[in-house]
Amino acid sequence: MPFPSRRSVLSSALGLSAAAATTPFLCTTAAAAPAVRDASGLRAETYRPRLHFSPARNWTNDPNGLIFHEGRWHLFFQYNPEGDVWGNMSWGHAVSSDLVQWEERPVAIAHDDQEMIFSGSVVYDERNTSGLGSADRPPLVAVYTSTLKDDSGLQRQSLAYSTDAGETWTKYAGNPVLDIGARDFRDPSVFWHADSGRWVMALALPTEYKIRFYASDDLKSWRRLSDFGPLGATGGIWECPNLFPLGDRWVLLVSLNPGGPAGGSATQYFTGTFDGTAFTPDAGQGTRWVDWGADCYAGITYNDAPDGRRVFVPWMNNWLYADRVPTSPWRGAMGFPRELTLRDGRLRQRPVRELESHRTRRLLSLTGETAPEGTRRLLADTGQLYELQAVLAPGSPATSDFGVDVRSGGGAYTRIGYDTVAGELYIDRRSSGAVGFAAEFPGVHRAPVALPDGGLDLRVLVDASSVEVYAAGGTVCLTDQIFPDPDACGLRTYARGGALRIETLTARSLRPARPGH
Ligand code: FRU
Repeated sequence: MPFPSRRSVLSSALGLSAAAATTPFLCTTAAAAPAVRDASGLRAETYRPRLHFSPARNWTNDPNGLIFHEGRWHLFFQYNPEGDVWGNMSWGHAVSSDLVQWEERPVAIAHDDQEMIFSGSVVYDERNTSGLGSADRPPLVAVYTSTLKDDSGLQRQSLAYSTDAGETWTKYAGNPVLDIGARDFRDPSVFWHADSGRWVMALALPTEYKIRFYASDDLKSWRRLSDFGPLGATGGIWECPNLFPLGDRWVLLVSLNPGGPAGGSATQYFTGTFDGTAFTPDAGQGTRWVDWGADCYAGITYNDAPDGRRVFVPWMNNWLYADRVPTSPWRGAMGFPRELTLRDGRLRQRPVRELESHRTRRLLSLTGETAPEGTRRLLADTGQLYELQAVLAPGSPATSDFGVDVRSGGGAYTRIGYDTVAGELYIDRRSSGAVGFAAEFPGVHRAPVALPDGGLDLRVLVDASSVEVYAAGGTVCLTDQIFPDPDACGLRTYARGGALRIETLTARSLRPARPGH
């Protein structure tokens, strides 16, 4: 079974108590979360992301059915309406006009006695090819995996539709629309393939490390086209495929669990061509990771995004410990939406530009400075939500390791460092705060990246419980969750063997998207 069993909530409670016991490091910012304690003595909402989507309560995993429609970005998500661990899988729903400020809506597609609603896509059936709407009111159609609750555990593909712009959904009476009698057959990625004038669907055969393609004229009847894989990383099952054009190539995302570079879950990508029938990967590309951190999984991109944009949203978590992260009353969050482009055949990512309208105060701006070996405090109080942009370089040939420590205080810190000997950028979260809730959580997550002569460019988005690092023009990304004390808001430099050269460094506060935080 690829899915975790329920665990006692006790382990997460222990993780939180450990954090609360650390020596407080006082910040003066009004942005720090109020230390409100609930009846069990835990701090309510302590780790609630300020800029990332998380449901008000209960469990979430994969983003589903991402579509831009009638001016709104829809985010459906794997959701347990009845608890804060995986189970009762249904599609939760949130909408946004700017990809930053999300409004949670009622559950869109609920599990029932027969089936759970696993991951999938939403398409706008503008010409009403499915007949599930009308010419006047063409439907949005969700294509999802029905996982049967009976002993068969079969996974089949089904439809639900909406004729009120995604507010309410009806399951199609003719479900399932695709059944091959398999227990591992899921996560449909559906899009309109204009060149062949038909719908195309990519599906995972997780235990065979294959993505299977199908075509349809009406979303109801599907014919098999071709198989892709195994290729690249096969150290874990394949899930959540997503196929889309980008620049002059096609990109196929394939999530893998376990077997990721940081342990557990991760997403690989392939570039290639798609002729409407088969995906042919470009030669000699090896394994390529969307993100080298521990917490970027099951990410897919938006259908119908305006202006040719390709916007990607991952689940910011890892199946290794997702059921134990010490948050309450919700568990699970999405990564910040990223804009994807290709550069020299490689994926390049950056936070969507809408982030910039959340910039408020410039906290610090440095140019051409040298920081000594060891650590040196730059700011006592960044607040919990900010953005850092920097170009950093070794200050001497002897400098073997350098970087910045974010969310530092009370002995805790999260290090974003560059190891010049190994040629690796890393996030070290071993001392980031509450780490004891799962043995797999503390660690150092590394990505190979060449150090340019002029220094390494970094863009870092820091939120209450996450760090997302975009380096080398967004060609290398690392995403990690962290659970620091809300008061640990220091920013410092770090260098070993010699000094650190700060070519430029700017830190800016960001306005929270969640009211009340
Ligand atoms: C990926 C995944 C999908 C599945 C869903 C179930 O994280 O395992 O393959 O559809 O989660 O919640």
